[in-house]
Amino acid sequence: MNTKNFNLSEYLHEKQGILEEYLHRIILQFDQEKELVQAMKHSLMAGGKRLRPVLAMATAEAAGEDFRIVLPAACAIEMIHTYSLIHDDLPAMDNDDLRRGVPTCHKAFSEATAILAGDALLTHAFTILSKPEQILSWSKSGSQPVFKIIPDQSTLLELISIISGAAGVNGMVEGQMMDILAVKDAICPALQMPAKASIRPPALQLDYLERLHHLKTGRMIIASVQSGAVSAGADPGFFKIFTRYAEKIGLAFQVTDDILNVEGDPAIMGKSAGSDKLNDKLTFPALLGLEESKQFASRLVGEAIDALSLLPFDFQERALPLEAIAEYILKRKK
Ligand code: IPE
Ligand code: IPE
Ligand code: MG
Ligand code: MG
Repeated sequence: MNTKNFNLSEYLHEKQGILEEYLHRIILQFDQEKELVQAMKHSLMAGGKRLRPVLAMATAEAAGEDFRIVLPAACAIEMIHTYSLIHDDLPAMDNDDLRRGVPTCHKAFSEATAILAGDALLTHAFTILSKPEQILSWSKSGSQPVFKIIPDQSTLLELISIISGAAGVNGMVEGQMMDILAVKDAICPALQMPAKASIRPPALQLDYLERLHHLKTGRMIIASVQSGAVSAGADPGFFKIFTRYAEKIGLAFQVTDDILNVEGDPAIMGKSAGSDKLNDKLTFPALLGLEESKQFASRLVGEAIDALSLLPFDFQERALPLEAIAEYILKRKK
């Protein structure tokens, strides 16, 4: 495949715009006077990259379906992701002041409000998943619904299972726990040895770190891609290819997040840099160095693109956005 003639920034711009519109409409359903709603809106509408929803939409298209079928899942995933960022920034976690170019939720409101705003975003994501007809019936002009096809009940249950599994105790939340255990001078149950990075053997640390990154970041990225595939009714062969692609870019995405924390520009990223070192985090640059981390990310992206080449020939062009997104993960500055 060749992404040279594919305009990714145009594609991202279009899909991000659609997502923004839907998220905005979701927030407008609530009482705008409420402190809780204002805190949810502060973080949700601060303009993230919307990578996960775009991946869901691009995968639905790659599987041969209209991307709008996955809009409810895409909105739900972005709400869960935003909740995870709000909690990740709390003083008890990474203690960050800046997120998406604005003060973190607990700085703009209070710690208690930020915790509750995260809880509310997480919970409402599942309300949306269980009532997709509402979102899919919204119209642009006020007349015709944007999209009339509603995923069937078994597809909806499958989406709920994929997304809750990725977010929960064997997914992102456990990844966050491993992230915390890796810096505390405590016994890490996964390794059955002291977790402090400096006293663990490097091979075990690498193993632990890959698993940590897979859980804390990879799982939600995989769920995004799988949601697109499931919503589009992709067959098991396609599902496997998309999953392999997502496993690779999911890990690559967190490796580049680690790299940006070392050498990224906070003004471009809209969040602080240097905090991983300050917090004594176990990261790829800390373990392998910057150059080796970059090579590792590049290898993963190559493997993701190789996975897409297993799609039948007539689907390869449809998968160009996925390929371009994989390449973008390496080059991203934010
Ligand atoms: C940041 O995610 C947290 C990670 C899991 C690495 P993003 O880099 O996708 O953040 P936003 O959504 O664009 O703000
Ligand atoms: C955040 O990981 C992961 C989740 C929110 C699940 P990091 O702590 O490494 O990400 P940033 O750098 O704060 O965005
Ligand atoms: Mg963190
Ligand atoms: Mg963080």
